[in-house]
Amino acid sequence: MGISGVKAIIFDVYGTLFDVHSVIEKCEELYPGHGQQISELWRTKQLDYAFIRHIIGRYRPFDEITRNALQYACEQLGVSLTKENEQELLQAYLKLAPYEEVPQALKQLAGSYQLAVLSNGSPSMLHPLVEYHQFNPYFSQVITVDDVKQYKPSPAAYNYALEQLDCRREEILFLSSNTWDITGAASFGFQTAWVNRKHAVFDYMGQKPNQIISNLDELVRLLEGK
Ligand code: LAC
Repeated sequence: MGISGVKAIIFDVYGTLFDVHSVIEKCEELYPGHGQQISELWRTKQLDYAFIRHIIGRYRPFDEITRNALQYACEQLGVSLTKENEQELLQAYLKLAPYEEVPQALKQLAGSYQLAVLSNGSPSMLHPLVEYHQFNPYFSQVITVDDVKQYKPSPAAYNYALEQLDCRREEILFLSSNTWDITGAASFGFQTAWVNRKHAVFDYMGQKPNQIISNLDELVRLLEGK
């Protein structure tokens, strides 16, 4: 389908700009031999808990859900999560590594487009992370669903982001590596680019991204050609 007439670009955060599995190093340091398993189960449960809580109408902020998912992952894997280790791992989440092309790509895009982020993350998670990497100058808005207590991929979450930007929904390009997020954003009416870093298969849920890219460098080249 391709993309056209883009006035603003909204980025998902966890998994798209920042690698949630960059905590594996700290997980492995604290729990040798279990690092990757803890990180993967932690992320899976973090998303599951957000989706389930949304469906049953029991919203809790993403920082609490992230803590609960970590508690589950450690118990399921039979490792003892001490209070200090829990704190250390949650602190690591505030300093996740950006994917290597992200800083330069954001700098280039910020010169031509209004940029924003839309995340399920709580303000207490998002602002420290964006500020730690000095990305805040690139974004006109750091938008958290916590303001409306509606998790992505609910339409209300994307609509809240639309209300923060002076654009029509079709003028907004939404980027995510998470297929459920692209499906939600496309269903809402944003143009979408799926950041498919791992050459995965897209979901069969009735929506397709306008564009599939492997990283943000491809997006820069694509938009330069527009
Ligand atoms: C985000 C992740 C959960 O909203 O996709 O940043």
